[in-house]
Amino acid sequence: MRVVTLISGRGSNLRALLEARRPGGALAGQPVEFACVISNRADAAGLAIAAEHGIATEVVDHRQHPERAAFDRALAERIDAHRPDLVVLAGFMRILSPEFVRHYENRLINIHPALLPAFPGLDTHARALAAGVKLHGCTVHFVTAEVDAGPILVQAAVPVRADDDPARLAARVLVQEHRVYPLALRWLAQGRVRVDEHGVARVSADTGDADAALVSPSG
Ligand code: GAR
Repeated sequence: MRVVTLISGRGSNLRALLEARRPGGALAGQPVEFACVISNRADAAGLAIAAEHGIATEVVDHRQHPERAAFDRALAERIDAHRPDLVVLAGFMRILSPEFVRHYENRLINIHPALLPAFPGLDTHARALAAGVKLHGCTVHFVTAEVDAGPILVQAAVPVRADDDPARLAARVLVQEHRVYPLALRWLAQGRVRVDEHGVARVSADTGDADAALVSPSG
């Protein structure tokens, strides 16, 4: 499975994916090849992470393509040069046009820092705290034309603590992001994911302790 990863900044999810190839990691021994990392910002810290791991990098600067459609076309051209089976958004902070999304139908995935469909969009951790939810988390999903919607591959929940602030909550969610994104790639590489006729992603995964309830507050 040839993967092109798109980033805009820090790149901690990218790092988690690359490190998951190590012995004992979720991607160890899996047929996953990271062909290229593309950023829309030349100053994205994640580009150095890619380079450290010997992965090719490119920049497609959105400021050089003021119109979204033109940027998306330039981006797709660079992506397609690598003939990817999967395009992975890892903190890629641009909204993509319906044409772009359609071009990568069923091979474009994103990680979002909330339990979708709750809290699409930005500032998810502050909004979760303001809403008083007791569980928060992250979602890996296929990308569709609607922003932060699309068939859900995997989610992880964390308890919201009484003394949380957005930064503390974000840090706890991020640990789970780094855990579930490699899992999603593993299942895709193994051909264990299908989207059914209702648009629901079905994963034939080991159930593990999937029945264990996460209750918060725990009482
Ligand atoms: C992650 O928390 C990711 O879920 C979020 O941006 C962060 C990127 O961090 N993505 C979105 O909000 C997408 N709408 P990273 O660059 O360290 O992976």
